[in-house]
Amino acid sequence: MYKIAVVGGDGTGPEVVREGLKVLHAVNGKFGIKMEYTDFDYGGDRYLRTGEVLPETAADDLRKFDAIFLGAIGHPDVKPGILEKGILLKLRFELDQYINLRPVKLYPNVDTPLKDKGPEDIDFVVVRENTEGLYVGAGGCMRKGTPDEVAIQTSINTRKGVERCIRYAFEYARKRNKRKTVTLCGKTNVLTFAFDLWERAFHEIGEKDFPDIKREYAHVDATTMWMVKNPEWFDVIVTDNMFGDIITDLGAMIQGGMGIASGGNINPAGVSMFEPIGGSAPKYTGKNVINPLAAIGAAMMMLETLGEDKAAAQVETAMVGVMQKMKSMSAGKMGYSTTEIGDMVAEAVSK
Ligand code: IPM
Ligand code: MN
Repeated sequence: MYKIAVVGGDGTGPEVVREGLKVLHAVNGKFGIKMEYTDFDYGGDRYLRTGEVLPETAADDLRKFDAIFLGAIGHPDVKPGILEKGILLKLRFELDQYINLRPVKLYPNVDTPLKDKGPEDIDFVVVRENTEGLYVGAGGCMRKGTPDEVAIQTSINTRKGVERCIRYAFEYARKRNKRKTVTLCGKTNVLTFAFDLWERAFHEIGEKDFPDIKREYAHVDATTMWMVKNPEWFDVIVTDNMFGDIITDLGAMIQGGMGIASGGNINPAGVSMFEPIGGSAPKYTGKNVINPLAAIGAAMMMLETLGEDKAAAQVETAMVGVMQKMKSMSAGKMGYSTTEIGDMVAEAVSK
């Protein structure tokens, strides 16, 4: 019996999570998997009602679960940063989810803005470091609001943090067994302290423990160029928190948009959290038009991480089948409603 914590969150989060749960219910029934769900009301509404961003005990409470299924965090009536830092980033940090795993995979019949590129060209994974770098919040400001203002924000990179991330990427490339290549995405020509550490760790670890995996390097600016020009060159990309954040939005676009981009915040030795990466989409909230496939894909990643590979594969096959019938992956243009897409995937999964 898996214990799953469910955080619907803000905006369209609860709507897409509902469809994800519908599909989980169907696939679990088919494969005899037992899951028990517990809801948590973390998000903007709770904050506006109670003045508390996250209960003191949240991380400890969530640690008792096998996985967390998250919708979205971000509310139009709350100043940007409060919920993102206070809920999403806090949980990633406190639960030590040091990997943000973001597959960039173009499925058949899904439109990509890249001319002349198809599913055989766009299929890679970004392994984003998820607990360090610029996201740590190291820094401060002085003389705020005056002409002499100073603002400092420092990227923290520890050998241990970098090493565990790089090892995960190599292991992932091995397990994936496709091009068996890991590309380090950095900026060694300017960030000569941080990415010197990354680069040395990358080659040392790769040479010693992963001789079967090819190592490549690309600066982050060049990475964005190659992602558009020759995405087929990538297999596994490993990078720091900030660069990973940026390049995975580009990744989401080339795989067909935010409507189908899923991610996992992973602690290989603890509790991991799965989410559609697109955010709370306030303007689509409550309209039954948002694409739930990113959340369904997150549920699929959750199954995979729990070791339920067959169930995960079944969900993917069902998703691909439903995508064939959809007019578009964008909210409001799918040719079906949010709940209809959920029903269709759930039905296909049960077959
Ligand atoms: C993401 C988001 C978050 C991030 C924000 C909401 C803090 O953009 O998951 O990519 O920057 O990590
Ligand atoms: Mn982001």
